[in-house]
Amino acid sequence: MKRVGILTSGGDSPGMNAAIAGAVTAAEQKRIEIIGIWNGYDGLLDEQFLPLSSSRVRGINSLGGTILGTSRSERFMLPEWRRRVPDTMASTGLDGLIIVGGNGSLKGAVALEQAGIPTVGIPGTIDNDLGGTDFTLGFVTAAETAVKAVRRLTDVALSEKGVFVVEVMGRNSGYIAMFVGLATGADFVNIPEAPSTPQEIALKLSQSEESAIVIWAEGCGDPSAAAETLKAALHRDVEISRIGYLQRGGTASTLDSFIGFGMGAAALNALSEGRRSVMIGVRNLQPVEVPYEVAVQTNPIPPYLQQILLPLLNTR
Ligand code: F6P
Repeated sequence: MKRVGILTSGGDSPGMNAAIAGAVTAAEQKRIEIIGIWNGYDGLLDEQFLPLSSSRVRGINSLGGTILGTSRSERFMLPEWRRRVPDTMASTGLDGLIIVGGNGSLKGAVALEQAGIPTVGIPGTIDNDLGGTDFTLGFVTAAETAVKAVRRLTDVALSEKGVFVVEVMGRNSGYIAMFVGLATGADFVNIPEAPSTPQEIALKLSQSEESAIVIWAEGCGDPSAAAETLKAALHRDVEISRIGYLQRGGTASTLDSFIGFGMGAAALNALSEGRRSVMIGVRNLQPVEVPYEVAVQTNPIPPYLQQILLPLLNTR
């Protein structure tokens, strides 16, 4: 393998840049040329390429976002556009691709494999919703950012004796909500894997006259109706606070930077040694190769969290 492309796709996540730096550094060691592809799959279709080097990726290991830009490419979903990729690969001399992204991006990699293109994936998403890996790149950073925001809201809630429903991201996964709820000692955590009704939340909160923080995973739907129910049941002010994109940006945590760099290097090594159709996950702080069919499965909240921690959080 002489020339490899790397792209970041879907929602950006802290740690993506570390993965790029790791792949570039490993490629230089192996004297493999590495090409950055701009704006995810859109850049692949439009041949927006830029050769990368160690000087270009210097100092980016903990930089948030992605220096390559990203997109949720609608064109790439269409077979007529994807059919062009093998020709693009051949005419530009690309022998394989490293795809950094979440579930949808890895499904794109599966489609490329079906077209005969060697790919290796890296789990870049804050959602922690991919199989075969302890966590995805950006999850730890996003949870930490949300924890800081909730601590600030707790100051306000305590002072005003109010109720805050704090919506965190995660798509259909409750991982961010679980971790944030536990780290902040929230009064209730609502996750899509074990959703509670507004009445159940109100019953729990009615046991105390104090302020309350409810962590609400976005996968549970719009919290507006639940907030109205809480207001009526508790006769207290109820505010909804959405942390939104704030939790996706910012300096990557040391763990996301460290793991991200290792994943980038492991992806380059796997691809250059002829392995493909695998995502580089992490187990026990070591990169592992996870077959795509395992990676694209959802990552359920493990039984120990559901059985031990969640009931504690919701009935304290
Ligand atoms: O997948 C990452 C994520 O931030 C999800 O948590 C969220 O549901 C979604 O992306 C938001 O998507 P967009 O960036 O397209 O608004």
